[in-house]
Amino acid sequence: MLNKITVVGAGNVGATTAQRLAEKELARTVVVVDVIDGIPQGKALDQWEAAPIEGFDTRIVGAANDYRPTAGSEVVVVTAGIARKPGMSRDDLVRTNADIVKQVSQQIKQTCPKAIVVVVSNPLDVMCWVTKQVTGFPRERVIGMAGVLDTARYRAFLAEALDVSVQDIQAMVLGGHGDTMVPLVSYTTVSGIPVMQLLDKGRLDKIVDRTRNGGAEIVAFLKTGSAYYAPSSAVVQMVESIVLDQKRLLPCAAWLDGEYGLSGMYCGVPCKLGKRGLEQIVEVKLTPDEQSALQKSAEAVKQTMAAVTL
Ligand code: APR
Repeated sequence: MLNKITVVGAGNVGATTAQRLAEKELARTVVVVDVIDGIPQGKALDQWEAAPIEGFDTRIVGAANDYRPTAGSEVVVVTAGIARKPGMSRDDLVRTNADIVKQVSQQIKQTCPKAIVVVVSNPLDVMCWVTKQVTGFPRERVIGMAGVLDTARYRAFLAEALDVSVQDIQAMVLGGHGDTMVPLVSYTTVSGIPVMQLLDKGRLDKIVDRTRNGGAEIVAFLKTGSAYYAPSSAVVQMVESIVLDQKRLLPCAAWLDGEYGLSGMYCGVPCKLGKRGLEQIVEVKLTPDEQSALQKSAEAVKQTMAAVTL
């Protein structure tokens, strides 16, 4: 268990993340910070009042526009920003969220200089870059959450199509978090059996498409917000691997320095997460189609980066 984890942003993703972190007792204290006075304090108090019933001892504390309670946090999760509205692409969000993430990163640099930062704000790959640049932290300590969520959606759809347990679907979705993400069909297995032996190409293509549009599918239902139950589960899986030094191999957005032939950008790749944060990027052989899809996805990330001036 860590001493302190901070969650920046007390909206849907941030608040649900704080609750899941506390329920798993991953830190003694979880601090939730937001710019709207009353929201972080109220949600944190409400969640802490659930502790005697749920049986967790993690204190959840809310703070508005005040980073002093976050001082010395070992892990910081950044969910601050505005969520995608119907019809809005992730890229439309870039400038607004870049300004918010810049401001948050300056605070983290001052109050939590040793933290491992897990970024969730969208457009994800670009917000990771903003965080890394502004904090000046090494790539080991600035990691983005996207692939775990995209992979969870892909696994859920496959489990439904095959009528098997989600636990038996092993898969990875790489690339940028957006319409160009790259589900690795060639590495997808059901308890070790290649999925291509169990589903025909037509059905697999439909599942891959649905995965690519997974975020938009939820936005279309909710109309006034975007997904948060699965996103918060995904962040907490990453944080848990760091806190418990599990060294899980998870698809995360990492700063690339030649891996997969890509450099100078964040992109989703297989990462080993442990107590030092990003401990290793694992390079696997891709099919020519997957490699070119990853390249295309990386180009889309670079284009979005170009919209931001730091
Ligand atoms: N500092 C702290 N919090 C901020 C700041 C800031 N500078 N600016 C905005 N916020 C807060 C908002 O007040 C709001 O409470 O961030 C919160 C965002 O919450 P929601 O609007 O509910 O959005 P949410 O669904 O939680 O998504 C947050 O995660 O998945 C991504 O695309 C999503 O970028 C979005 C982020």
